[in-house]
Amino acid sequence: MSLFRLDASIRVEGSHSREIADIVEAEWVAGHPDEEVVRRHLGTDPIAATTWADAVSAAYVPEEDRSAEQRDAVATAAREVDAMVSADALLFAVPLYNFGVSQHFKTWVDLVIADPRMAAGVTPATVGKPAVLVTVRGGSYGAGTPREGWDHATAWMRRILADVWQLDLSVVEKEFTLVGVNPAMDQFKELAAELREQAEEVAREHGRTLGGVLTH
Ligand SMILES: Cc1cc2nc3c(=O)[nH]c(=O)nc-3n(C[C@H](O)[C@H](O)[C@H](O)COP(=O)(O)O)c2cc1C
Repeated sequence: MSLFRLDASIRVEGSHSREIADIVEAEWVAGHPDEEVVRRHLGTDPIAATTWADAVSAAYVPEEDRSAEQRDAVATAAREVDAMVSADALLFAVPLYNFGVSQHFKTWVDLVIADPRMAAGVTPATVGKPAVLVTVRGGSYGAGTPREGWDHATAWMRRILADVWQLDLSVVEKEFTLVGVNPAMDQFKELAAELREQAEEVAREHGRTLGGVLTH
């Protein structure tokens, strides 16, 4: 058994998405001691934006006529898909940036979809695989808030992971991570603490059941 974990935060220290994903991972490891965790640090080791275009254009060129860049791109896409396919459970930790999806995660998803095993419209190689998405946001986007509707990342990520890749997906969301950092948000300290506790509890639950094994 193995867990594939992808982190898209551009920082390592003080990262809320990593902290929550650490909880999910710890629960998975508790249920699967001695098993491997394969890590993909996408926020600090991103895929070049040109790789996707090379992989897409390669599909229209006979294999023997492909450029070195196209060959590399196709091989990179295959490697990323292999990493997911060979894992028994998947964990994605992706923050909200500029009201949208992390560019590093989008580039990675686009590249994965360029692989014929994961293209929209085919039964994906990941069908039915258990997965947890951890997503964190500096602000708050719930119903009735001034920024309701401004989070353009979470619904898209759910669409890709649950519907296009047909993962058995659970989601942990944590909001107000900028409380304590941005003084203008100090009024939300109590609420932020509550949301943090809730997110940590949900992370523990999803970590325990990831892979279908109850650890406690
Ligand atoms: C460049 C940048 C853009 C951001 N844009 C948003 C945003 O549009 N909305 C929001 O709620 N938070 C935004 N944030 C805050 C992050 O979502 C928040 O700090 C989150 O905790 C980052 O994930 P991490 O803690 O795992 O690094 C932004 C942060 C950065 C660095």
